[in-house]
Amino acid sequence: MSRLIVVSNRVAPIQEGKPSAGGLAIGVLDALKESGGVWFGWSGEIVGESGAPVLENSGKVTYATVGLTRRDYDQYYRGFSNATLWPTFHYRNDLSRFDREEYAGYMRVNASLAAKLKTLLKPDDIIWVHDYHMLPFAQELRKLGVANPIGFFLHIPFPVPEIMRTVPPHEELIAAMCQYDVVGFQTDNDKQSFLDYVVRTSRGHYNDDDGMLQAFGRMLKVGAYPIGIYPDAIAKAAEQFGNRKPVKTLRDSMRGRKLIMSVDRLDYSKGLVERFQAFERLLLNAPGWHGRVSLVQIAPPTRSDVQTYQRIRQTLEGEAGRINGRFAQLDWTPIQYLNRKYERNLLMALFRLSQVGYVTPLRDGMNLVAKEYVASQDPADPGALVLSQFAGAADQLPGALVVNPFDLSQMSEALERALSMPLAERQARHADMMAPLRENNLSVWRDSFLSDLRSVATATSVTEKTVQTVKQGTTEAKRPAAKA
Ligand code: G6P
Repeated sequence: MSRLIVVSNRVAPIQEGKPSAGGLAIGVLDALKESGGVWFGWSGEIVGESGAPVLENSGKVTYATVGLTRRDYDQYYRGFSNATLWPTFHYRNDLSRFDREEYAGYMRVNASLAAKLKTLLKPDDIIWVHDYHMLPFAQELRKLGVANPIGFFLHIPFPVPEIMRTVPPHEELIAAMCQYDVVGFQTDNDKQSFLDYVVRTSRGHYNDDDGMLQAFGRMLKVGAYPIGIYPDAIAKAAEQFGNRKPVKTLRDSMRGRKLIMSVDRLDYSKGLVERFQAFERLLLNAPGWHGRVSLVQIAPPTRSDVQTYQRIRQTLEGEAGRINGRFAQLDWTPIQYLNRKYERNLLMALFRLSQVGYVTPLRDGMNLVAKEYVASQDPADPGALVLSQFAGAADQLPGALVVNPFDLSQMSEALERALSMPLAERQARHADMMAPLRENNLSVWRDSFLSDLRSVATATSVTEKTVQTVKQGTTEAKRPAAKA
């Protein structure tokens, strides 16, 4: 089997065992361990000068990381990736800004990372690139003559063409994405938005039967590959961690109260302000719940050197304080708002303790928290899930109470319904959600993407042989279309 090369801005395994190591890391690592290979990306360090990749071996896997200079970090990570692409792809083009220098930095870092990765590549490696930091990575590898199959998976939403067009270099970026051999999205909607752009704006041709897109002089496969979790492993962890101290402390402090749980990175795309306000509306409209329910919101700060993140943090602090000031009693705080990280397994146990999972992003690629919430529940007495229709996960969790996060009244009614849901209904809804979670688990996501990428590799090597044969018999030979 050919080696797998994984490329992502963050190299998750270097955080292995730390609180942030998530499902994606586990899924991709399994594949790397099986076929052997390299995980390549940013070390998370800011350095004076960015040098050759630092290699660390662990069994069949090599972690290859590079530092970024302050200028690279500011322009590529903090700038174009997180102040332009992230807000726009989450439909917040009102929060997006464009700066030519930052865009140039984004392209420069992609080119320099591609050149560094090239030194580690072997001819039959297959390369799997992740997320919005790396849209032009394949194009940069192609410029260096790399002909290996390269796949790309976008973890975040892909916006409709009119929103995409607000990013000034939109066409360059889409053309660059077409240099991959497989481009994968979380949902059919995201895939369709990409195709709408390419087919309408750039006159591409898409064949629905085989998922092949012809655009910018290339043929590539475009698909939806919804990312999953390992639900049974999560259920087990949720049970096992139930006796840990923080879980016990929360259980004791509840004293018969119901608990609504939310866990998100502190990000404006997560709809935290609207979420707090819908909870406030519940307390306003249904005073019977005073003293009988608390919302625990865990929101570790991220990207705190980006201005929009500083603003959302301030707003949320204000809202939590205002709502608590309005409703709190001497022995009851309605919102427990915690800006800190917890170990993942501990979170699963906290989910199991609660009666409602409250996951209401304004826009989200998938949202694994929604899936993890369901998997963590005790099937005999499960909590109910209130879920935004704008999370990719809404397509796959038929037992959730699906809400529009812009409709505060609807969210507060859903909360009330979830808090009062009879046991039989909770059990039925939980079972309805566990079945698809098991069926489309993390391995299915990874294997279906990699199998499409490997088919491209096989098709390409067949084409290459044909081209070589033609070459021997004729004067002119063409490169295979998929590699142009
Ligand atoms: C999202 C993105 C990931 C990113 C993560 C954490 O899940 O899709 O690519 O790594 O957020 O954000 P950070 O900026 O800290 O890497």
